[in-house]
Amino acid sequence: MPSYAHPLAWLLALEGVALLRTQAGDLGDAAFVEQRIAEIRRLTADRDLALSAGAVVGRATTVEGYAQWADQYDSEVNPLIVAEEPRVQHILSTLPPGRALDAACGTGRHAAFLAGLGHEVVGVDSSAEMLALAKAKTPDGTFHQADLRAMPVEPASFDLVVCALALTHQPALGPALSEFARVTRPGGHIVLSDIHVLSLYLGGVAKVGGQDGGVRAMPASRFLASDYIAAIHEAGLEIEACHEPRWGEVPGGHGGPLAQQWCPEAAAAAYHDTPALIIWHLRRPRK
Ligand SMILES: C[S@@+](CC[C@H](N)C(=O)[O-])C[C@H]1O[C@@H](n2cnc3c(N)ncnc32)[C@H](O)[C@@H]1O
Repeated sequence: MPSYAHPLAWLLALEGVALLRTQAGDLGDAAFVEQRIAEIRRLTADRDLALSAGAVVGRATTVEGYAQWADQYDSEVNPLIVAEEPRVQHILSTLPPGRALDAACGTGRHAAFLAGLGHEVVGVDSSAEMLALAKAKTPDGTFHQADLRAMPVEPASFDLVVCALALTHQPALGPALSEFARVTRPGGHIVLSDIHVLSLYLGGVAKVGGQDGGVRAMPASRFLASDYIAAIHEAGLEIEACHEPRWGEVPGGHGGPLAQQWCPEAAAAAYHDTPALIIWHLRRPRK
């Protein structure tokens, strides 16, 4: 079913989440609740906001979406990457250098980091535009344009496989996890990161512009931890660790410029302590 986005709906949604957090006893006293109610009255009474245009949200495949996003991808401050990078880089730093595969490498953020750690790096991505930037960043790496569920690499040929911020774009986890298990050597490591399902409900579905000035959403599956665990076991992998880092302060504040203009306290409360990501450290058993 097509969704419909309206600026006022986004602001009221943030106010609503903030109020739900107070109902759950997580935060906020009587004054906080009264401020939210007063702010909702101001928002709904504002003529410009009420008259601002809503839009049907279209759909874009990841190939279409990242072709469009690639140019700006590295120059934008992405709050999800701000939250993800320290935890993933910490895990990667503990592993010995070897052959490393960055599946859905995008512009090669982790591929470049792994090359810096002394790994021989291979990157795979379905977007030619994202891959071109990855190649420029890590000229000594090998890069393939391919689907992460059928990668043109030999079985058991990698000591480490990384897949960051891409699994939500897949319709199911099973094919990706079994492909990662296939290409990892026995005893090798697999590190996955992705947006947390709760943050997909807080504006986390990736969107790009549409030709008519509207927006288009890329696929965003709502995987639960239990879905990951089932796919991990089905692929014959072992869990070393699972992390769910929460949102901290982000540059520019939470919820985007509109939320910062109209309801920054509600936006901060909506994101406060909510998991931003799910990060898995897996291993292929030695035998
Ligand atoms: C949000 S970007 C993340 C890029 C990089 N891993 C990072 O963390 O900076 C998602 C990437 O996944 C890629 N992608 C999505 N689905 C894919 C698939 N089925 N096969 C290969 N790449 C895919 C996209 O082209 C895009 O480059």
